[in-house]
Amino acid sequence: MKNTSWPDRLFAVWYDRLMEKMEQNTFRPVRKRLLQHARGHVLEIGVGTGANASFYEDRFVSGKVFLDSSFPMLQVALRKGICPQGSLVLGSGSELPFSTGSFDTVVVTLVLCSVKAWKQAIREIRRVLRPEGQLIVLEHVQSRHPVISFFQSLLTPVWKIPARGCHLDRPTDQTLGSCFEWIERDQIVLSGMPFVFGRLSPRPETECSREIVSPSVPFAEEAR
Ligand SMILES: C[S@@+](CC[C@H](N)C(=O)[O-])C[C@H]1O[C@@H](n2cnc3c(N)ncnc32)[C@H](O)[C@@H]1O
Repeated sequence: MKNTSWPDRLFAVWYDRLMEKMEQNTFRPVRKRLLQHARGHVLEIGVGTGANASFYEDRFVSGKVFLDSSFPMLQVALRKGICPQGSLVLGSGSELPFSTGSFDTVVVTLVLCSVKAWKQAIREIRRVLRPEGQLIVLEHVQSRHPVISFFQSLLTPVWKIPARGCHLDRPTDQTLGSCFEWIERDQIVLSGMPFVFGRLSPRPETECSREIVSPSVPFAEEAR
């Protein structure tokens, strides 16, 4: 199975160490600020090693499902003790194995940059959310500054090899706007790279732009 290749295993084992400085200096306060809003039945897509797990406020959350397409990442999360908090699912964000309208909150942090069929994943998130549900996001996005955006696109083909499919140049915030409406939106910029975070509510299905309908990519065929 491609998800247990040695680069995936290496990435999973090193991920927390690679991120430690950025987590301490930047992401932890953002995660805390965002995750306090998680409510009801929660789906976290691309849970990774479980960086958000300690920030959920259990009195507001009735159940959690943690999904990731990487078995090694789920193994690390398991070793770190995420399991009692919720169920772990190996699967793809672009082909969610859940029925329509089954979650109150969906969480994606630093994930849509590396999902191959990311526009399809956005549609899937919209599908599994209840109409009154919310999406919580933290994603780095394409800069609006033409020079920075140029370098993001230039670096992506090289960067995505060690970073396991991470694209530096996706206009994720704009594409999210096709299916969701921002309730709360903020941004931090690290070395020129904008990180957008906040909460969104689903737009009615009919408003979900055709632009983001992409051909279905089955989980087994998703290659990085
Ligand atoms: C950069 S890590 C972020 C992990 C975690 N969300 C965090 O905030 O630290 C990206 C995660 O997305 C997962 N991922 C990539 N493509 C995916 C897909 N199609 N479906 C679900 N998870 C995916 C990766 O396996 C990895 O665990």
